[in-house]
This record gives sequence, structure tokens and C-alpha cells, in this order.
Amino acid sequence: QSDSTLVQEDYVGCLHCQSLLSTSNIIYTPKNPSYLSILQSSEQNLRPASISPLKPILILTPRHGSQIQAAVYCAKKYGIQIRVRSGGHDYEGLSYISSIPFVIVDLRNLSKISVDTKKHTAWVQAGATLGELYHKIAEKSRTLAFVAGTCPTVGVGGHISGGGYGMMSRKFGMAVDQVVDAKIIDVNGQILDRESMGEDLFWAIRGGGGASFGIIIAWKINLLSVPENVTVFNLTKTLDQNATQLLHKWQYIADNINRNLLIRPTVTMTNSSENGKRTIQVTFNSLFLGGVDELLPVMQRSFPELGLEKEDCTEVSWIESILYFSDYHIGGSVDVLLSRTPLGRAYFKGKSDFVKQPISENGLKGIWEILLEEMGVVEVQLSPYGGRLSEISESATPFPHRSGNIYMIHYVVAWGGEDANAESRKHINWIRRLSSYLASYVSESPRAAYINYRDLDLGVNSEGNPSYNQASNWGAKYFKNNFERLVRVKTKVDPSNFFRNEQSIPPLSSSD
Ligand code: FDA
Repeated sequence: QSDSTLVQEDYVGCLHCQSLLSTSNIIYTPKNPSYLSILQSSEQNLRPASISPLKPILILTPRHGSQIQAAVYCAKKYGIQIRVRSGGHDYEGLSYISSIPFVIVDLRNLSKISVDTKKHTAWVQAGATLGELYHKIAEKSRTLAFVAGTCPTVGVGGHISGGGYGMMSRKFGMAVDQVVDAKIIDVNGQILDRESMGEDLFWAIRGGGGASFGIIIAWKINLLSVPENVTVFNLTKTLDQNATQLLHKWQYIADNINRNLLIRPTVTMTNSSENGKRTIQVTFNSLFLGGVDELLPVMQRSFPELGLEKEDCTEVSWIESILYFSDYHIGGSVDVLLSRTPLGRAYFKGKSDFVKQPISENGLKGIWEILLEEMGVVEVQLSPYGGRLSEISESATPFPHRSGNIYMIHYVVAWGGEDANAESRKHINWIRRLSSYLASYVSESPRAAYINYRDLDLGVNSEGNPSYNQASNWGAKYFKNNFERLVRVKTKVDPSNFFRNEQSIPPLSSSD
């Protein structure tokens, strides 16, 4: 028997001894016919698993907190690492790969959501997806909503623990800003809520990346009041239609326009209708919390150059706006939001930066030149800040990217095909080149980044010997000065560094 089979038998035996598991339908070892499909079902990025040397010893899909407690107890006993997965959308796959023997605790069965329409709150279990959360809220009310990302298959476990930016963030802040309680299983296997975990740990899991501190099993969130009808538009402009100049102008209004309006441009490549050659286009994706008659004067005052007309706009309910931004048909069934199948699975690599001064037109043209060199599918998304995001202090939560940012620039390259794995290096080198080009246009000291767009190029912990100095390289980029407090919390709640990954917060050791 191989070492990994022995470890696996010990671990499963231990789970049985804990007699907490009616194990039949929540444990998947490699012998189980569903093991591979469960493993791969929520992998959004195909790249990490394709280069990972190991597969998990087993996957556990708990239905109760007590089963996670058993998983933690047994993993500690046998020195096995736990990777926690909610929606599986981690950009570097850290919820389902590891270089040392590991089990995946996959929370797909912990997806209960209870909405309290009177108190405007909800408890949502960490394994729910954003789509399931949005669907449940809309089932109860047309005028309640939640602020979080636009992709319905993203898991609330990972998403909220890293921040959570969405189309209403200029009005309501990040998802973490609306968290009022949480339940977490700590390294001692205890289930803690806000009161019993204390304010330090409660602070840390709201933006510090949950994976460093325990296994979050549920969040209690505030629900937000929205109008019965909101307005959406997606206006696309090519270079011939002055896309560069429009994007340049957008930078001057993005963060200070009426906070009910969020205009999030996305740059992509398309084939020119004239000569078939690839060219750049910019789509201005927008949500306005109000009717079209209220929106048009706002646009006329602040961004007349875009030339928005009434016909470009559609009034919809908030939940229909979610369909719209997920590229689903408005008017179709909202039940599509319940699908957990990732929308566009591919090999991809992404990066993020924060922009504090508008990039000149020449600077933008330089970006276009680099984009046109790449043959993969490229998307550059510019997420505006300002509004409520700027009013919350940098230290209120570990998510520090607040006042002073005009927008976050997030760029991704995706590729596929038979040679996808062999071609990875080429695409990764390209995105690194774009990142180098952007250096003179984006924040410095630190060159900030968003942890939910995780990027291992920023640095990784040494397995077995993580150091504060090493981790502060990327820790300062994701968390700015909050990194120090995150390290203090980690040292207090998990000094043996049981919950760890390539970019987890390290505890202080005697050599630090
Ligand atoms: P996953 O399960 O992979 O977890 C991510 C990390 O959190 C891992 O380290 C994991 O171990 C840890 N973790 C997960 N559940 C945990 C739990 N219960 N307790 C402790 N740790 C846990 N972001 C954004 O702000 N706005 C957006 O609009 C989008 N849109 C978007 C679209 C697409 C297609 C992708 C792939 C990603 C995004 N994101 C995003 C980024 C997204 O917020 C980020 O990848 C989240 O970490 C994903 O959370 P999941 O639970 O899906 O991932």
C-alpha cells in the first residue's frame, strides 16, 4: 500500500471513530466513482490543477458543523492539511490544490440561506453561491438586495472573506462592510460566533482571507434597500468610436459621479468589421439605482460624451440586473442563478492594480498595443471606487483599498485547447509584461492588489517555514498596514499555523 493510501485509511478511520459521520455520502476517496467529478465540478480555473503534483487524499462534503469539527480533529491528529472550498473560484486554485498531502473540505452541502425581511438581515451558509443568495433574497422581496460580485457561481465563503466588490459598491461598500455576525470553526474545533470569537478574529475574517483563521460556516449579513426598478445599460464603443477618449474621460468621473451609478468599463478585443483585423473595444457596463428618467440628466451632466440615450437603457428589478450582468436573458427564469456549474471554465491568469491618477490617452494606447500582441482571450475590467467605498476607513476591515483610489484595474488572460497546458508559460509571460507596463500608472509603495484576484506572482510562503518578512511582501499589497494586525490575530488564534496555504497569514515565530 502506498503512503497516501495508508494516510487516507488512518484519516477515514479517525472520522469513523469520531462517530460523527454517517460517512456514505459525504466522503469521496479516489476509489469513489464520483471523486473526480466532485473534485473538478467547481474548479473555475483549469490551470492550477493541471500543474499540481497531488490530488486530495479525499474530499469531504459535510452537512453539519460537527462533521467539520471531526475533519479538523483528524487532520491535526495525522498532520494532514485541510483546504476549504466554497465556490472554487480562487484564481490560483488554493481551495483545491496543495503540494503536501491534503483533504478538501468542500462546503457545497452547507448552503442554507434564511432571510429576515423584517430585520433586513440574512444568515447564509458559506457553501452557498452568490446566485443562490441573490435568488433567495429576491424570492422574499423585490426591494431588498445584497452587495457582492456579479458572477453567480462564486461562493460566499471565499468571496466575502476577501472583500466582495459588486455593481452597488459605490452605494453600499464591499460585501464585508455588510457582515454583522459569522460562525467559524477554529483550530481547536470549536464553533464560534461573533461574541465568542471576539472582535479581533471577527475583524480578520472580513477581508483578511478566511483560509488563514479557520473554516467559516456562515455569515450574517445586512440586506440593503433598493428601488423597485433599477436601470442597466451596456454601451460598447470601438476605437473608431473614440473608445480611448471616452475611457480617458471616464477616469475623471468614475469615482465622483452620483453614487447610485456605477459605470464599470470592460476592455476586450474584437475583429474589425472593416478589415477583419483584431481591434479594441470598450463596453461601459452600468447599473443605476433608480429609473431611466433620473439617470439621463446625471449622465448629461457628468458624462455627456458617452452619448447615452433612453433606448440604450432598460429598467429592471434588482434580480433581473443580476441576470443582465451575468449575461443571462432578462425576462428569463431567475432559476438559472441556482446553477453551480461555472460559466466559462478555462485556463486563466489574472492580476489587479489600483489607479490613483488618470492614465493619459497615450498610456491607454500603450495598453492597447500590448493587448493586441496576445492571442488568448483578454479582458481588462475597470471597477470604479469613490462613494461609500471612500468613506470607510482603511482599517475598519482588513480590506484596505478605500479613499484615494479612482478605480481598480483587473486584467485576465484565458486560453484553452489541446495544448493549453503547454501554452501556459506564453500567456503568463504576456500578462507579466502587461503588469510591468502598468507599473508607472498604478499605486506604488505598496503596489496594491486585491486578494480576491489572488496572484501568486506576488510571493508565496515557504511550506513548513513561513516568515513574517517573506509574507509581508504580498501581505502589504493586499492589506496595507492591516497586515500587521492580521499577523497578530493569526498568532493568537492559530499559533501552530494549522490553517495555511501558499499565501496565508503566517503567525509570528521566535525567529521573526
Ligand atoms: P474558493 O472556494 O476557491 O475559495 C477561495 C479562498 O477562500 C481559498 O483560499 C479558500 O480556501 C478560502 N475559503 C473558501 N471558503 C472558505 C470558508 N468557508 N472558510 C475559510 N476559508 C474559505 N470578486 C469580486 O469581488 N467581484 C466580482 O465581481 C468577482 N467576480 C468573479 C468572477 C469569476 C468568474 C471569478 C473566477 C472570480 C470572481 N471574483 C470576484 C473573485 C472571487 O471573489 C474570489 O475568487 C473568491 O475568493 C471566490 O470565492 P469562492 O468561495 O468561490 O472560492
